[in-house]
Amino acid sequence: MHLGLDLGTSGLRALLIDDAQRVIGVAEGPLTVSRPHPGWSEQDPDAWIAAAEAALDALHATHPAALSAVRSIGLSGQMHGATLLGADDRPLRPCILWNDMRSHVQAAALDADPRFRAISGNIVFPGFTAPKLVWAATQEPAIFAATRTVLLPKDHLRLWLTGEKFTDMSDASGTSWLDVGARAWSVPLLDATGMRADQMPALAEGTAPAGALRAKIAARWGMKTGVVVAGGGGDNAASAVGVGVTAPGDGFVSLGTSGVLFAAQNSYAPAAASAVHTFCHALPGAWHQMGVILSASAALEWFGALVGARPADLTAALGDQVQAPGPVQFLPYLSGERTPHNDAAIRGAFTGLSHDTGRAALTRAVLEGVTFALRDTLDALRGAGGAPTRLIVVGGGSASRYWVQLIADALNLPVDLPAEGEFGAALGAARLGMLAEAGPGADIAAICAPPAIARSAVPDPALRGAMDDAWGRWRALYPALSQG
Ligand code: XUL
Repeated sequence: MHLGLDLGTSGLRALLIDDAQRVIGVAEGPLTVSRPHPGWSEQDPDAWIAAAEAALDALHATHPAALSAVRSIGLSGQMHGATLLGADDRPLRPCILWNDMRSHVQAAALDADPRFRAISGNIVFPGFTAPKLVWAATQEPAIFAATRTVLLPKDHLRLWLTGEKFTDMSDASGTSWLDVGARAWSVPLLDATGMRADQMPALAEGTAPAGALRAKIAARWGMKTGVVVAGGGGDNAASAVGVGVTAPGDGFVSLGTSGVLFAAQNSYAPAAASAVHTFCHALPGAWHQMGVILSASAALEWFGALVGARPADLTAALGDQVQAPGPVQFLPYLSGERTPHNDAAIRGAFTGLSHDTGRAALTRAVLEGVTFALRDTLDALRGAGGAPTRLIVVGGGSASRYWVQLIADALNLPVDLPAEGEFGAALGAARLGMLAEAGPGADIAAICAPPAIARSAVPDPALRGAMDDAWGRWRALYPALSQG
């Protein structure tokens, strides 16, 4: 038995699989985001532990024997969050999350120092970890001075599970402190933000052992002390492992709170200026590139809350047949945007409204707006040299048949829907645990095989011209609305 824990933004998922990777049990613990000021996005690290406890309690209630037979644990998590711990290893303040924009001024200042793009391979985005510490140094100097360790979200769970401070290469890539080509902390980049290497967790490959289950935790759920905890991965790299996206040409599109277009690579080829992210993969000797949009399912959820409807009901009302885009368009920049604009100040918009615009037209515009933003990221990945040739779709939004077909049509790529439901990042985490237990000789390709595919959405040639035309009109809106 193997356990995958995926710490998402809206909840933590615990997935129990057997040696043949059959799903034995799954449980979730919900999480909420606090937005105390415009542009801020925070979570209490203790809430992550409470969510993990709730999920483990639920698994223990339904599958006690399987839980006690667990031989490895893998961790996946929302990336970039700054969890600041004091000398007693307790959080000094709420974690500042990946979609928090407060440090955009500090991010731009770091990004203007050419060493950051040269060494980290990426733009210093406001959501990344390093600028948050620079923000803390000026806005919360007492907390900054008391910070003994900075952990990424999933690694705070690891500290609770194992008592040890590690992170993995894929998650570390999103801090702006990693030399992504060399897979090592960069002392010059740490120095440039007033940080020291001893404030960082130790680095491990995602497939390597990085901690062992503490006796106290093991006893609470009838598990074995010393169960290996793998390095694991940031949620995108872990999702890739979960759906077998490990070799060049392989890719996935994720419709979570954020949207991601992910391409696996076997070498390090950064393209920072394109706002494409170039990160280590959670597998040794591998990297990946991705375009990230900050509001994917988040945009549909926002619209659903506004009109008092569940997102699933809004998309179901559209039927299965994708229509050519109409006059209403939507820009999904509710929290600013990363790829391709790197613009923390831009905000969303509806255009083309008229007296006869109804809820269905607005729903379609929201889905099209998010999908066109993903097409922008495909364009950026093509420019960076590493675009996928077919996609697997993961994330909550993949439950909508309409949306999956729309992605195939608007990106003009076949999109495969996995048969086994949606276990992407949690399954990837569990697979990384299996690899850590198996050791260096493990057969990575066999353990990280692609999933069975339920169906493939194939681009409809009849819609190609209308999609290209609508994307062209949509692209003209950003320059009209941006202040930069
Ligand atoms: C990736 C990113 C998001 C989070 C969401 O760079 O910021 O995809 O990982 O959990």
